[in-house]
Amino acid sequence: MDKNILDIIGQRKSIRKYEDKKVESKKIEKLMESATLAPSAGNRQPWEFIVVEDEKVIAELIDEPMSKFNTSWMSKGVPLMIAVCGNPVESAKKYGDRGRNLYAIQDTAAAIQNIMLAAAGLGLGTCWIGAFDEVEVSELLDVKSDYRIYGLITVGYPAKEGSRPSRKPLSEVVRYIK
Ligand SMILES: Cc1cc2nc3c(=O)[nH]c(=O)nc-3n(C[C@H](O)[C@H](O)[C@H](O)COP(=O)(O)O)c2cc1C
Repeated sequence: MDKNILDIIGQRKSIRKYEDKKVESKKIEKLMESATLAPSAGNRQPWEFIVVEDEKVIAELIDEPMSKFNTSWMSKGVPLMIAVCGNPVESAKKYGDRGRNLYAIQDTAAAIQNIMLAAAGLGLGTCWIGAFDEVEVSELLDVKSDYRIYGLITVGYPAKEGSRPSRKPLSEVVRYIK
């Protein structure tokens, strides 16, 4: 990865159409390493990453647990799916309610962003998926008790440049105290 991190942040956008091409194991490993390098409260790393390469399982995920949501674009093919799970019970052991309701989610969200930026640096496209039936996906992927799936990420080689929706101007979302 020889691009500047700011270039990668600037270039990343959600990709919802992928080439019919597998993601190489070496790249998947890089994504997972990047995930675990994310910060986490007290370095508790209360997460587990389930990497779904099996086409049949991906098809099952897209078919049932997501069919109620606006995810028809996925039926055109998703080469790889990553379920990012967090363990709020583990975070609560040290940080109580704040760990359960905030840190566990923040830790896994940081890991998700790391995966997405690393993927962009490796020439891969991703999309963060929040709309799915968590109970059904947990059953299908045999998610451990105590863990929740905080996000799914689709990954593959972009077949089409996504168009990034515009952002609110900085003047609307940033407040300086000088
Ligand atoms: C928490 C979260 C949940 C999301 N859920 C979905 C989803 O279910 N389906 C989808 O197509 N995109 C989903 N997205 C992607 C957003 O639509 C996308 O990031 C946003 O429109 C900004 O576009 P960009 O990623 O191209 O910059 C989600 C993003 C986040 C952060």
